[in-house]
Amino acid sequence: MLEILYNRRSTRKFSEKKIDDEIIHQLLKAGLHSPSSKNSQPWEFVVVDDPELLSQLSVAKPHGACLLKHAPLAVVVAGDKTKSDIWIEDCSIASIILQLAAEGLGLGSCWVQIHRRYHDDDQTANEFISNLLNIPEHLEVLSIVGIGYKAADRPPLSNKEIDWSKVMRNSYNTVYSEK
Ligand SMILES: Cc1cc2nc3c(=O)[nH]c(=O)nc-3n(C[C@H](O)[C@H](O)[C@H](O)COP(=O)(O)O)c2cc1C
Repeated sequence: MLEILYNRRSTRKFSEKKIDDEIIHQLLKAGLHSPSSKNSQPWEFVVVDDPELLSQLSVAKPHGACLLKHAPLAVVVAGDKTKSDIWIEDCSIASIILQLAAEGLGLGSCWVQIHRRYHDDDQTANEFISNLLNIPEHLEVLSIVGIGYKAADRPPLSNKEIDWSKVMRNSYNTVYSEK
């Protein structure tokens, strides 16, 4: 687990290699094991592997979604607002669990933010995606996790890039000294 956490980077360029159904199954199973407040499990996943739909998802918002165009797989993470008042937290956790599971299965991934993002002046990114994928109104899309085999490995964060000044010990006045 620590090796995954220390080495994970967002992947935005994927190889052509197809992902086996069994791997996709394991990935989704991990997502469905995510913790949630009061075990409400407000997430729902729409698995997208149709290239035309992936291409449409890549324009769900003007910036930051184009990686989906050439991804072999995307998992749209939507929350049921009627099940939990903190569906955002629960769906965020499910999204990162999907990302970490992808890494564990030898895949790369990237989170595409949808909640509070706009498709254009008239439509939210959520509305655009919900129309495209027939997602009912009581659900709201939080994120899309783009997944595939990595076209290239990205180096992990170096020790220099890890900001220990963000960690305090006991009181905000006392820095946590790096070991
Ligand atoms: C809440 C959240 C929203 C993000 N939204 C996007 C996005 O819309 N498009 C994108 O390309 N990357 C997105 N990312 C990925 C971040 O840009 C990335 O995690 C960050 O730059 C750190 O890089 P790393 O993941 O390689 O460590 C998002 C990440 C998080 C956690």
